[in-house]
This record gives sequence, structure tokens and C-alpha cells, in this order.
Amino acid sequence: MKTIRVFAPASIANMGCGFDVMGMAMDATGDVISMSVEDGLGLSIENRSGIDLPVNVEQNVMTPAIMAFLAEYGKPQKVSVVIESKINPGSGIGSSAASSVAAVFALNELLDRPFSKEKLVEFAMEGEKLISGGVAHADNVAPSLLGGVVLIRGYRPLDIVKLPVPEGFHCSVVHPDIMVSTKMAREVMPKEIPVRDAVRQWGNVGGLVAGLTLGDVDLVGRSMVDVVAEPCRRGFIPGFEILREKVLKAGALAMNISGSGPSVFAVSKDERTAADVCEIMKEHFAFLDIDSKVYAASVSNNGARVL
Ligand code: HSE
Repeated sequence: MKTIRVFAPASIANMGCGFDVMGMAMDATGDVISMSVEDGLGLSIENRSGIDLPVNVEQNVMTPAIMAFLAEYGKPQKVSVVIESKINPGSGIGSSAASSVAAVFALNELLDRPFSKEKLVEFAMEGEKLISGGVAHADNVAPSLLGGVVLIRGYRPLDIVKLPVPEGFHCSVVHPDIMVSTKMAREVMPKEIPVRDAVRQWGNVGGLVAGLTLGDVDLVGRSMVDVVAEPCRRGFIPGFEILREKVLKAGALAMNISGSGPSVFAVSKDERTAADVCEIMKEHFAFLDIDSKVYAASVSNNGARVL
């Protein structure tokens, strides 16, 4: 029997304007699992993280990801997983993605890398399908697996582009202790968008990609404006507009919902501002009697890895 321990980082999906097509890895937190494989059949998942997770294997996001991997691998394997530490589910910082990524990455390492990283992204997306109401998106799994900032240029076929991370690009993330499920946050999305909103949104996505490529952090900041998902989702986050005013006044370049929420992230040009913004975020939710966790982080170019 072979055993391995791996880490898969948290991630910030959408990056404001890039609904389902942009995401970045955040090394400040993530999932740690150990996995063993041997010849045979079966999957067991043991949760030692201290965090409440679905108890049966069918409801765990790792299961469809592992099944997709093994179906294509073709040889039966008996897989045992121990979840050692876990991002809180429903946090908006890629909790389900970190689980699925950790699972397929560990399996690939244990079986001597039969698949490319792009293929692993496809398998991990099966886990996202389970929690998002049947739609598989890659904007958390791709950065968690590959690290850095990632553009999903197309889904059919999957076309993933890793973008450079400008120097001095710092993030502040707050995870308020409220629950917003991805399924619920996707259900409120508009089915159609007016052309004038589409024009603003694709202008911003272009600006975001250009800003990252040119190392122009100001351009990145002013492009992180979301006129499609945010207007329908910000109501889930108490005091969202007031918080944005406060963090922009403190020097942040932009603030948006992280993925489907309820976490919120801001980008800043330097570490000092990112730390100040974290304080403001923490105070904001404390004032509303909501516990929160904050992370000040630079964007990591490292994705999933063996520990
Ligand atoms: N792009 C997805 C969404 C990310 O916004 O629904 C979910 O974490």
C-alpha cells in the first residue's frame, strides 16, 4: 500500500468581473489530506478535520472527482482518504475545490502521474458539479491545482491560461461566519444580461487580463468591477456597500465577493494596506455581531503539492 499527504490551497474565484472564468490561488489556507491506494475496490473517507462534513461518501465532493479519475484510469483501486484539515464549507474561498483538487492530485501522484494537470482539473470539476446544482466550473479548481492567477478561456474544450501575478499584489480576505451555498448564489444569477452590462463586463475582463500581464496593479484594481453577479449576490453579505466604501477609503484598489460568497476580498498595492484592510473587515463584521476570519495574503504561484 502507498500513502501520501498533500496540500491544496484556497482560491478566490471570479476576481470580480470574471464570473466562472478567472480565479487565483491563496496559500494562506487550504486542505490537507492523506491518501492511500492498493489493488482492490472501494473508497473510504475519514474526517479528522474537526469540521462538520457530509458523513457518507456519496455526499463528499471528493467522490465524483475520484470516480471520474478512476473511470479513465481503467484499473480498479482501493482508495482511503483521511481529511486532516479543511477550509470551512460554504466559505467562498474554494473549500469544495480544495477537497476535489487534493483528492485527484494525491491519486495522480500515488499512481505515478498517469494524467496531465489539465486533465486533473477536469476530474476535480466533477466535485464542483455536486455542490453547484449540476454546473461544473473551473475557476476554483484550476488555480488551486496550478497556483497563481488562471483564466479559463473556454470550457469545451477546456482551455486554461496561467497569467502572471504582478509584484506588490496583495489580497485581504474576510470570511464572515454566515452561510451562502454556491447553489443558492447561482440560482439568483440572471438568465440573460443586457448588452450594456455585457459591454462593461467584457471590457473589465479584458482590463483585468491586461493589467495582470502588464504588471499594472491600478488597471487590475479598476477592472475588478462586476455588474453581472455582484448586484444579485451582495444582499447576502451584511453591509457589503458600506464595507466597500471603508476599504477603498483605506487605500484598497477594489473589493468584491470571493466566488459565490460570503467571503469578500480586496486587492491592495502593498502589504501594509492589505493588513489595514483586514482590520477594517474584521471590525465591520464584529460590529454586526458576526464572527469572521481574515487573511492577508500575496497570491501564490504554488498550487497543490506533496507535503
Ligand atoms: N464562479 C463560481 C460562482 C465560483 O461564482 O458561482 C463558486 O465558488
